[in-house]
Amino acid sequence: MLDRYIQLLREGEIVAFPTETVYGLGADAWNPSAIRKIFVRKERPTDNPLIVHVASIPAVEQFAREISADARTLMQRFWPGPLTLIFKKKPEVLDLVTAGLDTVGVRWPSHPLSQELIASAGPLAAPSANTSGRPSPTKAEHVREDFGEQFPVIDAGETAIGLESTVLDLSRKPYRIYRPGAVSVQDIEEALGKKVEQASGDNPPAENRSPGTKYSHYTPDATVRWLDVNETTAPDSGTLYLLHSRRPGREGSNIITYEGDFPQFARELYDRFRQADHRGYTTVAIEPFTGGEREDPLMPALENRIQKAIG
Ligand code: TXA
Ligand code: MG
Repeated sequence: MLDRYIQLLREGEIVAFPTETVYGLGADAWNPSAIRKIFVRKERPTDNPLIVHVASIPAVEQFAREISADARTLMQRFWPGPLTLIFKKKPEVLDLVTAGLDTVGVRWPSHPLSQELIASAGPLAAPSANTSGRPSPTKAEHVREDFGEQFPVIDAGETAIGLESTVLDLSRKPYRIYRPGAVSVQDIEEALGKKVEQASGDNPPAENRSPGTKYSHYTPDATVRWLDVNETTAPDSGTLYLLHSRRPGREGSNIITYEGDFPQFARELYDRFRQADHRGYTTVAIEPFTGGEREDPLMPALENRIQKAIG
């Protein structure tokens, strides 16, 4: 089933493939002309580095200058899975991949088709398979929406997690999370037995260390906003409501209630953003997370993506 896609990658073409987080847009990590096609197709600024996708731990040695005991602990504990690790890079790693940084991000995704593809045609440099600034694709149809019906995409239905991987920088100390994801800060600290820093509004990463954080992300055309807790008026038909608790008087096709199922909320978020545009909603109003749900390990990732869409 993958033969055609393996062939395309070996010929220096780009192919969209499923991972457990979102669909990726892959190119041979050692082929500069293939990687250039990613930037052109996505209209991605060339100062935003790509993650290298591998299908084994030893494969990291091609890219990372050194692999610490902590790095090994994390790889053994969380790979394959939604955790990207940033290492000091080897000199031969292409500047196109790292955007000229002295570090490289590497991840081993767990989706079986991604593993098969990478094992045959990888390692693959791959960002999310969306036009820059659009929500990441969680379905093959999202990729076709952005890149056209004929674009080669390996269709494996909806992705399991729906939010991009956790990005953890191991090239500096203390280690720092640039992007929260399904592997939580607690998971990481527990595995390492030490604290890691989290980039936040108060503690922004230096732009030159994680260029991706300075770009707008994940935005539909509709305006995304937090629902005002005191909003008691009748629901507005031009607004898509994403709620996580049941609210009296709010029922209808434009009101989605997740009832505390945060994994499902995360899985569907980007699809809901895209649906809002297709269905002509001008606003997406999301119930803020203010109660016990803040303890949910997915919360920093979910809230981060919503906040980025709000801008
Ligand atoms: O789940 C994911 O990570 C998905 C799937 C396809 O694996 N990929 C993904 O890639 O979300 P992308 O390019 O959309 O986001 C990668 C993020 C960007 O914010 C980028 O700036 C950051 O990782 N990044 C990559 N290499 C880096 C590096 N060497 N230093 C700092 N940040 C890096
Ligand atoms: Mg992306």
